[in-house]
Amino acid sequence: MKSINIFPLTIFCAPIGFPCPENDPDKSRSQLIQQIVAMRDQSEPPTSEIAAWTGDVRGHEFLHNDPAFSPLFEAFENSVELYLQQMGLDASQLNLYFTRSWAVVAGAGERVNRHAHLQSHLSLVYYLQKPAIGGRIAFLHPSPPNEFVPGLFETKMASLFTGPRNETNSNNMIVDVNEGDVVIFPSRTEHTTESHQSTEPRISISSDIVITLKDSTKQEFLLPNLEHWKQMRT
Ligand SMILES: [Fe+2]
Repeated sequence: MKSINIFPLTIFCAPIGFPCPENDPDKSRSQLIQQIVAMRDQSEPPTSEIAAWTGDVRGHEFLHNDPAFSPLFEAFENSVELYLQQMGLDASQLNLYFTRSWAVVAGAGERVNRHAHLQSHLSLVYYLQKPAIGGRIAFLHPSPPNEFVPGLFETKMASLFTGPRNETNSNNMIVDVNEGDVVIFPSRTEHTTESHQSTEPRISISSDIVITLKDSTKQEFLLPNLEHWKQMRT
């Protein structure tokens, strides 16, 4: 007897540490943390007491264009290339763009609600400051392939299960990551975070990536090269 699990979702995780061209990564890292905390302190706070601060909707959504973050984004590029290799894709045929990049700061008791980045193709999260406890990321499946009765994997049906819950019989999976890890996943994947538990904030950097073809000749589905686009008069 055997079970064959097909159609897995890949969450790519690379331990990149804190890439820094200088000799003092601790100092550079704490400068980035200070810069992000200043962004938070100088912008509007979240409307909910349990919501983490997210820079994307508070005027801090283009960190990929900030020179202070360049070493990090170079490392992100390397990780995305490895992800594409692992997916068996030929990155040399593709153009990749960081389109939106922002920090998230979660204090004790704060979290990020369930969402997906539907405007983008790939997304990544990098953990600049990640206390050991709390604030783990969870990925959710709105229609798990094995859920043969709608709602079977919901929490309210948990009493029906006697065996271990795992990726074959769950609609959400927590991924435990460490400080210095970058996590890459399809942007349409719904995700959330646990409530953060530590008094030391969790500080992460998210980035959305859009992919186009270098040459769209005879290709139907990916976006064509931006050089062929024409902006409309608006
Ligand atoms: Fe997200």
